[in-house]
Amino acid sequence: MRPPPRAPDEIVRRLGVLLLLAAAALALYVASFSEDEYRRVEIKVVDHTKDFLEEGITAYEGAKTCYKCHEQATLDFFHSYHYQMVARQYDVVNAPWVPYGGKVAMNDFCGAIFYNGKPINFIGFAKLTNPPPGYEHLRGKPVAFGCAACHGIGLGEVPQTRLTDAQLKNMDCLACHVRPEVYVGGVIGFKKGVREIYKDENGNWRYKVNLDVMTIAKNIINKPTRANCLACHAYSGGGPGFKRPNITPDLYNPSKYFDYHMGEGMHCVDCHTGKYHLFPDRAADGWAREPGEVKTCVDCHGPRPHEDEYGDDLNKHSEFLACQTCHIPYIAHGQYPTELSRDWGGSRFSPELGYYEPLARYGKYVRPTYMWYNGTRSIYVYPSKVEGEVVVTVKPLGGRGNGKIYPFKLHTSRVPLSEEGIPIPIKVGLFMATGDSNKAILAGAAAAGLTWNGKWVTYVRYMQVDHGVLPDDRALGCKECHSPNTFFPWKELGYDRIILLDGR
Ligand code: HEC
Ligand code: HEC
Ligand code: HEC
Ligand code: HEC
Ligand code: HEC
Ligand code: HEC
Ligand code: HEC
Ligand code: HEC
Repeated sequence: MRPPPRAPDEIVRRLGVLLLLAAAALALYVASFSEDEYRRVEIKVVDHTKDFLEEGITAYEGAKTCYKCHEQATLDFFHSYHYQMVARQYDVVNAPWVPYGGKVAMNDFCGAIFYNGKPINFIGFAKLTNPPPGYEHLRGKPVAFGCAACHGIGLGEVPQTRLTDAQLKNMDCLACHVRPEVYVGGVIGFKKGVREIYKDENGNWRYKVNLDVMTIAKNIINKPTRANCLACHAYSGGGPGFKRPNITPDLYNPSKYFDYHMGEGMHCVDCHTGKYHLFPDRAADGWAREPGEVKTCVDCHGPRPHEDEYGDDLNKHSEFLACQTCHIPYIAHGQYPTELSRDWGGSRFSPELGYYEPLARYGKYVRPTYMWYNGTRSIYVYPSKVEGEVVVTVKPLGGRGNGKIYPFKLHTSRVPLSEEGIPIPIKVGLFMATGDSNKAILAGAAAAGLTWNGKWVTYVRYMQVDHGVLPDDRALGCKECHSPNTFFPWKELGYDRIILLDGR
């Protein structure tokens, strides 16, 4: 059902009748949302014991085990962004369509997984080699399993576009389809001991699932819970909440003052339905430009959700403010600080994580950075030559009358730049294990065929914030923006003055 066409405000004001009609239509529209769209997904166990016994399945061999009975689902997942790690971006203004994603990019957090198709950090195993004084007992502790721990949702083969037996065996359906109490993917799977790294008969690193096949069968779930997704998403960037400020371990058991929706029991798949195994995203710094559905605020609440005395004023703001701007007033407002900048030029040992991290600045209860975004952006395409000392990796575009104001986390990163003018993919496992920045940069440069003479460049990225909606009484009120001492950056957003409200 589509929203009723909206009459221009002047006409509405003059014709009270029209207003009434529109209100009635709107009430119907809103009612239809609450009936259909608010029905939460049901996550349940689908016991496969009988199916596995009948089929004589005695070992889990990745998707090969599931393929016989779930051919279409396997093919859908195989072609998805999650598995292939790359999608075509058509909304970039400074280039014709470009492929982007973990398969081809270098980001401002962990760097690059591949360099021109060659694995740099994809899979590997690093143990802590030189702990600082006081932490000697941690020597030998496993610190890194490769980026493939999360990327590609597989068991260590590099994803390819042609489906082969090896590719079938590689896809790890269990990361999303086994109760998280029993198995999860990501880095947490290793921590819990349900995943292990080993060398196969050809000497290649691979992961294996450390679970008895009948335990798997008994615990298959129809759709993933929050905890399945969080095993990867809450730790991206190298630690809890480092990257996405409002996707953190807080969400395992969230308070509604951290995230109203998930605090009320919603799961990621209530919004990211995952139909046909697609998880599309059109955020300024998201890359999963694949078809499929993600429910946004308006899909569930309608375009005019406010009704009380300020309702009309608030609704009118939707012409130039994204819902997130008022409803997500802070980032990192939970237990975990988020990273605001990092510097690969130095290291610090983290006793909590048990490995070396780059130098970084973190923040909690940070006001977002506000920017206009009209659905197009400019990006830096890796590995092209860098001009100047700052590279804006992702910048949302737009301005007054062209797009809406959205909240972002501004993140910067100091990364090594090669003589050829290309940012160097650092060997991250080596860095985590030794804390030796120079060594890790030189090893990465050598692997990529680049030379490093000590140059640096700063990466800048605007990260869209879409999670962490607070209860409505904590949304930004009129005075928080329309007052002389507001934090709201009117000037930076293109206004010549702060708009003040008289009498309110
Ligand atoms: C021998 C056949 C067989 C194998 C092998 C098998 N399944 Fe199933 N699966 C089924 C059947 C039959 C159902 C439907 C059960 C029902 O609806 O009660 C099902 C249902 C499911 C569902 C729920 C589908 C829905 O529509 O809600 C998921 C998810 C699933 N299986 C995942 C897996 C995964 C992951 C594997 C591999 C580890 C796997 N299955 C292996 C037969 C199989
Ligand atoms: C704990 C899980 C996890 C690990 C380990 C991980 N990543 Fe990621 N990475 C993610 C997630 C989740 C995303 C996409 C979602 C997002 O940006 O919030 C992502 C996205 C990326 C992207 C795409 C651009 C971007 O930032 O969105 C690159 C490049 C990347 N990671 C590099 C790496 C490198 C290099 C490593 C290993 C040194 C690594 N990642 C390890 C979870 C992980
Ligand atoms: C990133 C998480 C994720 C991974 C990995 C994943 N699935 Fe799913 N799967 C989902 C979600 C979410 C749904 C629910 C989609 C819906 O409601 O339509 C789903 C639905 C299904 C269904 C029922 C609906 C359908 O499309 O047939 C089957 C069967 C299934 N998955 C099997 C698999 C198999 C087999 C694999 C491995 C090749 C796999 N899944 C990997 C998230 C995942
Ligand atoms: C109430 C709905 C809702 C829930 C619940 C939800 N998301 Fe989102 N998510 C969104 C919206 C809306 C976007 C932006 C989509 C767009 O602009 O296309 C988004 C975007 C994302 C992105 C891209 C980066 C960003 O922040 O914009 C990732 C990654 C993501 N979600 C992961 C998750 C995970 C993991 C969970 C569960 C822990 C989750 N989401 C739960 C609504 C939701
Ligand atoms: C095994 C780890 C893992 C699991 C489990 C997982 N993801 Fe992801 N997800 C990733 C990684 C890694 C990426 C980035 C892929 C790339 O570019 O290489 C990603 C990308 C995404 C994106 C797109 C982000 C962008 O940049 O546009 C969304 C949205 C998303 N995941 C949502 C989910 C949801 C919802 C779930 C649970 C149903 C889930 N994921 C489960 C690892 C995982
Ligand atoms: C200018 C700031 C602002 C914008 C923009 C905004 N809201 Fe609100 N919203 C509020 C405030 C303040 C409240 C508190 C209740 C009230 O005064 O109506 C609220 C209340 C709500 C409620 C609770 C309604 C109720 O009846 O209790 C929902 C749902 C909601 N907003 C959704 C949205 C959606 C969806 C959008 C985008 C289409 C949006 N809001 C845009 C400020 C805003
Ligand atoms: C999949 C549907 C869905 C999506 C998408 C969604 N919401 Fe909601 N939202 C709900 C439901 C359902 C509730 C009521 C939860 C409850 O009270 O059980 C709710 C409640 C709210 C409230 C009211 C909180 C209160 O104090 O009563 C606000 C504000 C809100 N949402 C804003 C947003 C914003 C902003 C977005 C986009 C970032 C969004 N919602 C996306 C379904 C959704
Ligand atoms: C997140 C910040 C924010 C909040 C909260 C907010 N506004 Fe605004 N408001 C704006 C911006 C930005 C504009 C300018 C829009 C434009 O480009 O014309 C604006 C414009 C207005 C205007 C039009 C003024 C003019 O001269 O054109 C009125 C009236 C107004 N707001 C009233 C309110 C009221 C009443 C509330 C509370 C119910 C409110 N605003 C809450 C940001 C905000």
